Amino acid sequence: MAIEKRGKATLLLLVCAFWMGLWRSNAQLQVGYYDTSCPAAEIIVQQEVSKAVNANPGIAAGLLRLHFHDCFVRGCDASVLLDSTTNNTAEKDAPPNTSLRGFEVIDNAKARLEEACFGVVSCADILAFAARDGVAQAGGQSYPVPSGRRDGIVSTSQEALGNLPPPSAEINQMTQAFANKGFTQSEMVALSGAHTIGLAHCSSFSNRLYNYGPTASQDPNMDPGYVSQLQQQCPQGNTSTVVPMDPSSPNSFDTGYFNDLLNNRGLFTSDQTLTSNQSSAGQVILYANNSDVFFSDFSKAMVKMGYMEVLTGSLGEIRSNCRVING
Ligand code: HEM
Ligand SMILES: *[C@@H]1O[C@H](CO)[C@@H](O)[C@H](O)[C@H]1NC(C)=O
Ligand SMILES: *[C@@H]1O[C@H](CO)[C@@H](O)[C@H](O)[C@H]1NC(C)=O
Ligand SMILES: *[C@@H]1O[C@H](CO)[C@@H](O)[C@H](O)[C@H]1NC(C)=O
Ligand SMILES: *[C@@H]1O[C@H](CO)[C@@H](O)[C@H](O)[C@H]1NC(C)=O
Ligand SMILES: *[C@@H]1O[C@H](CO)[C@@H](O)[C@H](O)[C@H]1NC(C)=O
Repeated sequence: MAIEKRGKATLLLLVCAFWMGLWRSNAQLQVGYYDTSCPAAEIIVQQEVSKAVNANPGIAAGLLRLHFHDCFVRGCDASVLLDSTTNNTAEKDAPPNTSLRGFEVIDNAKARLEEACFGVVSCADILAFAARDGVAQAGGQSYPVPSGRRDGIVSTSQEALGNLPPPSAEINQMTQAFANKGFTQSEMVALSGAHTIGLAHCSSFSNRLYNYGPTASQDPNMDPGYVSQLQQQCPQGNTSTVVPMDPSSPNSFDTGYFNDLLNNRGLFTSDQTLTSNQSSAGQVILYANNSDVFFSDFSKAMVKMGYMEVLTGSLGEIRSNCRVING
């Protein structure tokens, strides 16, 4: 009797242990994942981001966008960091790449991390930390980043095209594109606030300045003063120039973007369109004048984005060079 009870208890324990094991390997990330295996991990990333952003404030935007592109294309697995090979055109060389930047910051952090704790910290986690640190360094709010991601071994240019919405997207297309990835419209609006820092090529919005449509040559949803200003910066056919997306504070992670939208000074169609739906417009108004709410919603949405199709447990690998898969 007693033995049978003990047997049952043992069995129960085993079942529990089994489920815990499954649970741990099942896409679970945790804040402070490297606390014992590499205690300096997050500090080292922060130091490298700080150094890079001090030298070039625009790098904060570059790092934030890299993490977004990484997560939206086959999950947050550092696939965006892989270089093309003779046999394969990688994500970073797909047409929407136009201007991905900040790769060398990740390389520098990785080199230091390999010295401090060889083979422990994934490139996907470095990127998630760096995006957060870039935002904070630019005046935004820092937030805890769950970690424990592992690095993927595949990166293809074709996948970038299908997974990233174009700057010409209208509200319904934007909402759908984010819904396909598990995000609400409200989370999409919060994440779009990332465009409060950074640069864009004229080619990303020049359709709004010239030959817009049969009834108007410029986009009527753009402030005419802003149209003229952009036409000066972006002469027709000139695709190489870059302009700030939030001209009044391009390197400051603030609510400037939402104020721009309220003044019809959103740069892309995909930005300005957020004021065209009643509920997203309400959110734009709220954020425009309430940085605490914006920062809080943005942080939550970034953490959620960081969970997209992550590799954990025994999946993937810990790359030793973020640009190439382990040989
Ligand atoms: C909502 C749909 C989105 C669209 C259509 C979009 C599109 C774009 C485009 C076209 C550019 C400029 C590329 C160029 O011309 O060089 C850009 C830049 C940028 N995007 Fe987005 N984006 C979106 C969402 C996001 C999200 C969710 C984030 C981050 C959470 C983000 C972060 C950035 C940043 C920081 C830049 C500036 C990069 C730099 O200065 O190097 N974007 N985006
Ligand atoms: C590239 O493709 C060739 C032929 O299919 C193959 O022999 C070679 O190993 C491949 N190289 C890489 C780096 O995958
Ligand atoms: C972007 O992709 C093109 C090829 O489509 C490539 O020539 C260019 O070097 C890439 N730019 C960056 C910054 O990776
Ligand atoms: C594009 O326009 C800028 C002015 O905004 C000018 O400095 C640059 O030389 C032009 N580039 C080309 C290729 O026309
Ligand atoms: C605004 O967006 C919400 C959420 O996607 C949607 O339910 C609603 O129908 C939209 N309103 C209009 C007028 O398109
Ligand atoms: C923004 O908030 C401040 C203080 O809370 C208030 O005085 C101001 O009227 C608000 N502006 C708008 C446009 O709501």
